[in-house]
Amino acid sequence: MSALQKMMGWIDDRFPLTSTYKAHLSEYYAPKNFNFWYFFGSLALLVLVLQIVTGIFLTMNYKPDADLAFMSVEYIMRDVDWGWLIRYMHSTGASMFFVVVYLHMFRGLMYGSYRKPRELIWIFGVMIYLALMAEAFLGYLLPWGQMSYWGAQVIVNLFAAVPFIGEDLSIWIRGDYVIGDATLNRFFAFHVIALPLVLLGLVVVHLVALHEVGSNNPDGVEIKKHKDPVTHIPLDGIPFHPYYTVKDIVGVIVFLMVFSAIMFFAPEMGGYFLEAANFVPADPLQTPQHIAPLWYFTPFYAILRAVPPLFGSQFPGVVAMGMSIVLMFFLPWLDRSKVKSIRYRGPIYKVALALFIISFVGLGYLGLLPSTPVATIFAQVFSVIYFLFFLLMPWYTSIDKTKPEPERVTG
Ligand code: HEM
Repeated sequence: MSALQKMMGWIDDRFPLTSTYKAHLSEYYAPKNFNFWYFFGSLALLVLVLQIVTGIFLTMNYKPDADLAFMSVEYIMRDVDWGWLIRYMHSTGASMFFVVVYLHMFRGLMYGSYRKPRELIWIFGVMIYLALMAEAFLGYLLPWGQMSYWGAQVIVNLFAAVPFIGEDLSIWIRGDYVIGDATLNRFFAFHVIALPLVLLGLVVVHLVALHEVGSNNPDGVEIKKHKDPVTHIPLDGIPFHPYYTVKDIVGVIVFLMVFSAIMFFAPEMGGYFLEAANFVPADPLQTPQHIAPLWYFTPFYAILRAVPPLFGSQFPGVVAMGMSIVLMFFLPWLDRSKVKSIRYRGPIYKVALALFIISFVGLGYLGLLPSTPVATIFAQVFSVIYFLFFLLMPWYTSIDKTKPEPERVTG
């Protein structure tokens, strides 16, 4: 026995290292027909690690103090060795996290990955999505630029629309009557430790649930149904390591090329990743002309603005915005189709999904623009489609003419 084998034996007697490696990598069988859309789970993990590591380095020089925050970010950009790179990695990473997560969620919608027995994977996913939005919102206040300040002001004021307790609630959140130093300090605490812990915990349970039931695939068939009678290995499965670890590395390399291109050549991405107004220090006495959230929030912002106020209160819009996310939790039970994957679904679901995506992207675009009467009408139409996609799903998925699902994956 070699020294290495002896050492592994010593560890395995005390810690399940080899068995965990086998259960989750070398003997974890994933469907052999994963395609392009299956890159985004591992890429989301990569960006999560990137954000945590760059975040730690930013925290070493950032000052969570209303008088110092803006200048400390400028100091990081100009004077800290490689500070500009760390900061751009973190700001580009924030937007790319949403790009990756949106594509990851779209894959779920296409292949019915939220359906039985993967309901909990999906639910943990929606919780991750919520935590990610909170994390991005809190982080955006930290550079203490004009958009940080006024964006936070607008969003925290939405809580004031809650009947009866709204005013107190918004003061409780801010720790002040306006966004101030107390707000910055608590947002910092939540951004650097509380929410990252929540995110990490949720990602762990997301993956534990995934490994319990196994991955879905572009055919939407369950590979565990057909196992080799002797080895009990799924006939359509291949070991995650080395097959998918190697495949994922290809995805990582391509992703990092795109990431670097943005980071080195267009870190502001024409104002979509970093807004011009945020290069101006926060000024509580001067409201910017046009306040718009970053692109990944704009679909929900557009829904908020599409709903007319009731007796002068924005509450109905706030409820609609909240419902637009809450509905996602119910997806596994709203879908009544006989098949999971879009490959075997009928025309109705395909049209419904296409309209949903057009509406979501349309809302995202409208949310970036100042609201005009015409834009509001479009936002209202898109919002209605967005909600109908969920609310009518039990009906249209049950009448849709599906094709028979194959027994085995088609490759
Ligand atoms: C930090 C964010 C996230 C990370 C790191 C993450 C990670 C992963 C990984 C590594 C996989 C397995 C590989 C793959 O199928 O691509 C996976 C699968 C899955 N994720 Fe996520 N995920 C995240 C967010 C989400 C969100 C927001 C949702 C949905 C709302 C979601 C829903 C799913 C589903 C349904 C599967 C199973 C897919 C299938 O088997 O076809 N995930 N996730």
